[in-house]
Amino acid sequence: MSLNLCIISGKGGTGKSSVSYGLGCAFSLMGKSVLLVDLDEGLHCLDIISGNDAEVVNDLSDIIDGGSIDSAVYKSEIYENLKLIPAPYNTGVINYVNLSALCKRLDGAFDVIIYDFPAGIDKDKLSAVGNDAQFLIVSNMDKVSLGDAAAIRNALPKTKYEPRLIINRFYSEYIKDGIFSNIDDMIDKSSVRLAGIVPSSFEIATLSESHKFHKNSRSLSAFKRIAGRLSGEDIKLPKIKKI
Ligand SMILES: Nc1ncnc2c1ncn2[C@@H]1O[C@H](COP(=O)(O)OP(=O)(O)O)[C@@H](O)[C@H]1O
Ligand SMILES: [Mg+2]
Repeated sequence: MSLNLCIISGKGGTGKSSVSYGLGCAFSLMGKSVLLVDLDEGLHCLDIISGNDAEVVNDLSDIIDGGSIDSAVYKSEIYENLKLIPAPYNTGVINYVNLSALCKRLDGAFDVIIYDFPAGIDKDKLSAVGNDAQFLIVSNMDKVSLGDAAAIRNALPKTKYEPRLIINRFYSEYIKDGIFSNIDDMIDKSSVRLAGIVPSSFEIATLSESHKFHKNSRSLSAFKRIAGRLSGEDIKLPKIKKI
């Protein structure tokens, strides 16, 4: 059985695709085989971030109704054992029935499968990954985004894993200068247990150009900590200034 991670958010633009890719790279560096599945129909995004966009011929729409999975799987040029299925070019392709069938076919073929969802609460699609899904809610630091994280948390289908929160685009200055209170308050606002915090960084903002992280950069370290925690390791949050 794979570790099936579903990257979701209430609000759009919180960084789901960037987090999906960053986590994929971190798991790959841990020696795991990883598949990224872009579910944001009509908006190719992960293949641009990973640098596979120029070679894409087939996408999720070619395999979701039963075609050979290998025909739409692309390999990262940079990270070993990191692969990607690009999003359907058109909208309206994915539904509960075909997505749940695909998830069953994929389960077990990779150590980690990361489903990059579109924003919002589409209960059918959120249910499709099944009882083995672990939901990771990506939120920014502001109250609107954290409030949406709480709302989506309450709407999630029950699975055997507790949903977890990833705070993305974190600025330690905002806490230091008192613009936001402290991290505990932020987590309380979302009422979701924290999986980790990802800094706001130039490196993440420019991933669609570079497709890679510097060894031991702050952002890669943040993704490695989250990947470690999701693999059952007990990894403490670093001091706020070091995130
Ligand atoms: N931690 C971060 N630091 C800097 N820029 C970020 C970060 N996370 C995301 N971004 C930028 O924010 C924008 C939206 O990110 P994206 O991952 O596409 O969000 P979503 O998939 O939720 O719509 C992109 O331009 C991306 O480069
Ligand atoms: Mg996205």
